[in-house]
Amino acid sequence: MELRRATITAVSHYVPEKILSNSDLEKMVETNDEWIRTRTGIRERRILEKGATSDLAIKAVQQMLTNRGISAAEIDLIIVATITPDMMLPTTACLVQDKIGARNAWAFDLNAACSGFLYALSVGARFIETGVHSKVIIVGADKMTSITDYTDRNTCILFGDAAGAVLLEPTNEKEYGILDQRLYSDGSGGKYLCMKGGGSLNPPTHETIDKKMHYVYQDGKTVFKSAVIGMAEVAAEILERNHLKGEDIAWLVPHQANLRIIDATAKRMGIDRNKVMINIDRYGNTTAATIPLCLSEWWQAGQLKRGQKIVLAAFGAGYTWGATLVNWSLTNPEKR
Ligand code: UT7
Repeated sequence: MELRRATITAVSHYVPEKILSNSDLEKMVETNDEWIRTRTGIRERRILEKGATSDLAIKAVQQMLTNRGISAAEIDLIIVATITPDMMLPTTACLVQDKIGARNAWAFDLNAACSGFLYALSVGARFIETGVHSKVIIVGADKMTSITDYTDRNTCILFGDAAGAVLLEPTNEKEYGILDQRLYSDGSGGKYLCMKGGGSLNPPTHETIDKKMHYVYQDGKTVFKSAVIGMAEVAAEILERNHLKGEDIAWLVPHQANLRIIDATAKRMGIDRNKVMINIDRYGNTTAATIPLCLSEWWQAGQLKRGQKIVLAAFGAGYTWGATLVNWSLTNPEKR
């Protein structure tokens, strides 16, 4: 069977308007702007005051369909990568499918935390490559503020809310599209970044609420050490597998968890800072949304151009991590 290549033919994002700055956080917990900026690179993040993850996702997807000039009825499959679904069930993907009117699509959620977008991109690409589907929406969306404890300075400074979406379609141009992926999991790291309450192990009770088990917990130092190694190694691996060097790559598109992890990855790949997409200063860690949010912003600004080779890389809870090599095929907005 001859495989088709999957490529990104549209991209968009949505961030809520309300800003939570470092100085706002100074009033809430024992922290300071200088510590947050130097330890993480974050200056501010966006907060969704009303609504849920599906509201973020829908705004990103609707704008993306407008950009592509197609109707929701043409969509075959919707995958929403999220760890903050609106509800335990139904899936957020089904809510999105209904609200945008994608009546011919099937839809499911995928949970791989901060690597969720890369995992979902990989799954979606298989449906295109094998000829099963021709239009697949991949969304990375998280309302992290819904699982953040604003009395815990270790975590509350890190997260924000956002959504990003891409459309995958087949291409006959063999040199373009999603060229390669490497994805990994190591469940032994699960205990260092988790939310223990709300699932079948610890269903919600007064006790789980009192013990704050419905908030995200992170052993930051331990996760940091694994993330620095994991993200840098997989990003270097995808270059080596494809006989590429840092200079062949136009953009590194890293998951935005910590500027120090991003810098370590760029260094390992031999890529200059000015070729790294960085917006953690404005949005913090938006989990599954970070990578499509970068792609969308840089594409809109005309900086992400057709024919540029880019590496997407992520590390997150699970542990999960991975990297994807893409030859960007989408023309700049002003040239369309
Ligand atoms: O996205 C998914 C994957 N997640 C990640 O990749 C995140 C990985 N981890 C990190 O990014 C970093 O570990 C953090 C940004 C979360 C923390 O930075 P760190 O350099 O590892 O700090 P730390 O947790 O080791 O804390 C250092 C000190 C501690 O004080 P002592 O024990 O040295 O006196 C903390 O209590 O900084 C203190 N601290 C703070 N101080 C001011 C912790 N949080 C804060 C805070 N403000 N918000």
